[in-house]
Amino acid sequence: MVYRSWLRAEGFTAEVFDGRPVIGIANSWSELTPCNAHLRGVADAVKRGVWQAGGFPLEFPTMSLGESLMRPTAMLFRNLMAMEVEELLRANPLDAVVLLSGCDKTTPAMLMAAASVDLPTIMVTGGPMLNGRFRGTQVGSGTHVWRFEQEHAAGRMTQEDLLAAETGMARSCGHCMTMGTASTMACIAEALGMQLPESATWPAADSRRLRTAQQAGQRIVDLARSELRPSRVMTRQAFENAIIINAAIGGSTNAVIHLLAIAGRLGVPLALDDFDRLARRVPTLVNLMPSGKYLMEDFCYAGGVPAVMRELSGFLHTSHIGVTGRTLADIIATAECWNREVIRPVADPLQPSGSGTAVLRGNLCPDGAVIKQSAASPHLLRHRGQALVFDSIEDYHQAAPDPHLDVQESTILVVRGAGPRGYPGMPEVGNFVLPTKLLERGVTDMVRISDARMSGTGFGTVVLHVAPEAAVGGPLALAQSGDWINLDVPTRTLTLEVGDDELARRRAAWSPPASPFTRGYARLYVEHVQQASQGADLDFLTGASGAAVPRDNH
Ligand code: FES
Repeated sequence: MVYRSWLRAEGFTAEVFDGRPVIGIANSWSELTPCNAHLRGVADAVKRGVWQAGGFPLEFPTMSLGESLMRPTAMLFRNLMAMEVEELLRANPLDAVVLLSGCDKTTPAMLMAAASVDLPTIMVTGGPMLNGRFRGTQVGSGTHVWRFEQEHAAGRMTQEDLLAAETGMARSCGHCMTMGTASTMACIAEALGMQLPESATWPAADSRRLRTAQQAGQRIVDLARSELRPSRVMTRQAFENAIIINAAIGGSTNAVIHLLAIAGRLGVPLALDDFDRLARRVPTLVNLMPSGKYLMEDFCYAGGVPAVMRELSGFLHTSHIGVTGRTLADIIATAECWNREVIRPVADPLQPSGSGTAVLRGNLCPDGAVIKQSAASPHLLRHRGQALVFDSIEDYHQAAPDPHLDVQESTILVVRGAGPRGYPGMPEVGNFVLPTKLLERGVTDMVRISDARMSGTGFGTVVLHVAPEAAVGGPLALAQSGDWINLDVPTRTLTLEVGDDELARRRAAWSPPASPFTRGYARLYVEHVQQASQGADLDFLTGASGAAVPRDNH
């Protein structure tokens, strides 16, 4: 009676207590997360499907992470959201759950939580915004912000132009419509088998977004009675498929960190080098910004993820079974590509095999670093230059406008102190705008190295996720302005050309920076966050605890 009575206060009839599955709808809706602001409507469509299939839907709010608004960076809170959703799923009497996500960090946070609880789960991402338009051209969220800000800094665009561009870039609800992190993670959720086919790409404003949500509601009722849980769906094979799809879509470097973190929850062995090994054979097929020309609406109408998977069927584990209960082979058998300019064939790819995210090693990054080759300048992928080192992104921002800054086009810009622990939260600042003096000379790209991340919508020859980061004493902390650095992406090496004796001398003089975070979640994060090469999860959150509550007095 105690359980029924309080739910009755919501006006439900007695039938909801007849033993039907209780389906949670975990909703990351928030007006502070513009990309997820439409998810109440999506939740209603999921509920329709749940009722239709004989389940009992109960929607509940979760923490939400708005990439564009949160300080110091939404990534600081990905693990907090994952922890919150995990505990909500376990503490409430749910038989299965539909996860509603959208903006960059909300999708991986929810997948991490689902992995640790292992209730039957389907994800429904909120879909991308409609394509951006500005003065007769297509403009992409994020990608064109960086471009236009660079144009503005170089004096080629006025403030009025910027204001006009910003509304054209955000024409509807939904997440960034470039192949940024949100689109990447939506495609990856589909490639992992955690959301329904085609679910990643329907635009947020398209009625088919709601149809797919209703179908997810119907399907989750069946799943609640099955053993097809996240641990059965997100297998090693599923992760390999996701890595291959990430390479083919020109996906975000952030996917590397998020997939490592999700795999860590499931105990699936996955290492940074798997990304390089698997992606090397895969050409970039999807012609989307920032690597290419088009946007998510175009990708959707061209056939979306199933069409890419069909093109890549020779690379994928097609016997994999996702939340549909069908094999991947069965799903993609009828997939078609409707626009070969947007989804290119393997025989005529956008970029050749091996041009995806590369993993670098060397004495500057003993535990690895990544570079998104498809978003870099080909002539800089082999480059030797002298370092100009900044201890923080703030130091760089202060120096960058200086007309007398001692910097050349061949200089390698190094920004440290922006890793998981150092910032904290590993902000997306790796593709920082070039020094003003060089922008004014028309320079558009330089080699940049940092322990930060880069927005999935960003571009440039930027080496990211250097591990170990400077704040924990990685070799990046020992680099000095004037040192020679050799970047050689074809051989996957990044070398600080300083002798071991000199590095040992510098190390002896180095001391770790004091953290200003003495309490609260930020302190917990700083004390427990793992390095980027491990997924930047909190050490005590790796692994799973299942859905059972340790002490259940009910
Ligand atoms: Fe939310 Fe880009 S800011 S997806």
